[in-house]
Amino acid sequence: KIDQNVDELLAKMTLEEKIGQMNQYSGFMDFTGPQPNQGRAAKKLEHIKQGLVGSMLNVHGVENVRAVQKLAVEESRLGIPLIFGFDVIHGYKSVSPIPLAEAASWDLKAIKRSAEIAAEEASASGINWTFAPMVDISRDARWGRVMEGAGEDPFLGSEIAKARIKGFQGDDLSATNTVAATAKHFAAYGFAEAGRDYNTVDIGTSTLYNVVFPPFRAAVDADVKSFMTAFNVLNGIPATGDEFLLRDILKEKWDFGGFVVTDWDSAGEMVAHGFVKDGRAAAKQAVIAGSDMDMESYHYIEELKTLVEAGEVDMKLIDDSVRRILKVKYELGLFEDPYKYCSETREQETVNQPKFKAELRDMAKKSIVLLKNEKDVLPLNSSGQKIAVIGALANDKTSPLGSWRLAAEPGTAVSVLEGLAKFDQNTYTYAKGADVILGKASFTKELQINTSDTSDFAEAISVAKSADVVVMVLGEHGLQSGEARSRTRLDLPGVQQQLLEEVYKVNPNIVLVLQNGRPLAITWADEHIPAIVEAWQLGTESGNAIAEVLYGLYNPSAKLPMTFPRHVGQVPIYYNHKSTGRPYLPSPGEVFWSHYSDENNSPLYPFGYGLSYTSFSFKDLQIENTYADNNTVSVSVTVRNTGKRSGKATAQLYIHDEYASVTRPVKELKSFEQVELQAGESREITFQLTDEDLGFYTNTGEFVVEEGIFRVFVGEDSQAELTETFEL
Ligand code: IFM
Repeated sequence: KIDQNVDELLAKMTLEEKIGQMNQYSGFMDFTGPQPNQGRAAKKLEHIKQGLVGSMLNVHGVENVRAVQKLAVEESRLGIPLIFGFDVIHGYKSVSPIPLAEAASWDLKAIKRSAEIAAEEASASGINWTFAPMVDISRDARWGRVMEGAGEDPFLGSEIAKARIKGFQGDDLSATNTVAATAKHFAAYGFAEAGRDYNTVDIGTSTLYNVVFPPFRAAVDADVKSFMTAFNVLNGIPATGDEFLLRDILKEKWDFGGFVVTDWDSAGEMVAHGFVKDGRAAAKQAVIAGSDMDMESYHYIEELKTLVEAGEVDMKLIDDSVRRILKVKYELGLFEDPYKYCSETREQETVNQPKFKAELRDMAKKSIVLLKNEKDVLPLNSSGQKIAVIGALANDKTSPLGSWRLAAEPGTAVSVLEGLAKFDQNTYTYAKGADVILGKASFTKELQINTSDTSDFAEAISVAKSADVVVMVLGEHGLQSGEARSRTRLDLPGVQQQLLEEVYKVNPNIVLVLQNGRPLAITWADEHIPAIVEAWQLGTESGNAIAEVLYGLYNPSAKLPMTFPRHVGQVPIYYNHKSTGRPYLPSPGEVFWSHYSDENNSPLYPFGYGLSYTSFSFKDLQIENTYADNNTVSVSVTVRNTGKRSGKATAQLYIHDEYASVTRPVKELKSFEQVELQAGESREITFQLTDEDLGFYTNTGEFVVEEGIFRVFVGEDSQAELTETFEL
């Protein structure tokens, strides 16, 4: 029925109206009062009335959305409703942990629920399309956008991509509390050279097929409704104009039925990339390649009509793009009721409401990774201890909201100080110690990091001296990661390392709580500080979640989704690397093997790593190889809680295909399972490996399963040593 409706509508549309559907404008403005009558903004409004706009982004709030939708529906000739897109990346007004933090939970149900909450709130505020999830794999912590993804692993990344898409889109896209999702940025944006945003990407086909593509493929399997192109060139071709990516792989090989939106002006940026001569050539190449909707370059609306008339762009391509866009609008139910996301009552009852807080806190607690806990410094003892809390981030109610939370109000996160204060049997003395940034943080302006002001150190040292325990909250400001926030260093920014070392001299009993949007190289802290907690940017409920973990009300269960390096010079560092021809030290002091002369090869904390207040053992690894009968290999293992309290173990299964026609990584995550175990309890877990897990893509993109020896590892992280082999 939808296809028929689309065809009928398409038959009524003029060429201009069709191109209009392929045009998306941004509208960061108030549409409810008097409207501009000149300039770009006025033109946009005029275009909506003329049916020359298919979508708006950055228009949100029921009143605003209704006002703009009204122009399209009531004033344009065909009254085709607009689709409203917005970056609902980790929550709308109620903010969940940054996506990288959520990924650390390895809890697919919780991640899905978090996306559901985001969809519920955003859709109540007029939005029906989110530009999420970002499914870019990245191995480079210098890249600021790692905060927005699920880390370095294609298997975990694919599982999380599906969970997020299911969460946003639900089972019924026409329900008023679900939104269309976007898999972005297609493709390889996470591989920007040297971690510098928007930079060149040059990677081989093996990495492209086996590492970059899988989460995007998983997104198609999860029925994601849209894809967004990447800003980068991939092997010399800008993604927005890349026929191989958008047509051959996405639309043909994967049979993607949704539509592709460009990233912001990425069609226009093909000129700066040196790929096309001008905006006209950019529009032509983007549409030929398969970019269906143009975000804010204006080249489609300005150039496509004459390109079609001149026979340079085939009308069939325009029809295909428009069909795809209209289909999603029908699926959302916008033709039945263009104002279905515009209920003021629902907005008031839903947006920023306390009803989500418990679940946001739950997600935040599940995202916290315990990196170190020597001598059981944690959990904190709540019977009358004197606690010094140090660090500007401890008292910050905005930074924990992280980057990419466009709708959230600054100052709405619970700070660590506020969270701790609820545990009032202890006394707290606070000292800032040092600012992380100077002045006000802005999403669009460069931050000024405090690299010299140590004038508040003295107060911090004084409160630390008289405390039983020092809780230091250090790390990155929430806007130090995100788009265009690349770093060359991965240390504690500014004077914070110095502060940590000064405080350590007077009181080494420190719990270091890290807030950051990327892996950090905290090698000194790992050597000296007894307890380290990775708390990322956890959103609205940040301080409450951190306090509950510090006091042991929640036993940490999260596992790193990205490797933490010892030093930035190791980057890109990732667990699923290739072996090299010289992986081992031949004999002490030998030099000709693959290593650094001034640092270990190993990471500070490996992928999949995270401690608990209890401990687990993994034993009795058994393999039942029935591949010859049913293409399946079963692997079982017994997990036991060997500590004194209940806790959640994450059993991780890795394989190594020992030799293949294209070399395979030394380890690849292929399955995992989380189990809650009481103290002393054990459980047998069985994993099934099938062709999907055992095969790989060749350099021509063919999926093959090859004979040979496979090594299986099961354990708590990517350094798991319990191992057995089987042969295919
Ligand atoms: O969705 C984003 C994208 O990830 C980066 N450029 C802007 C888009 C829309 O805001």
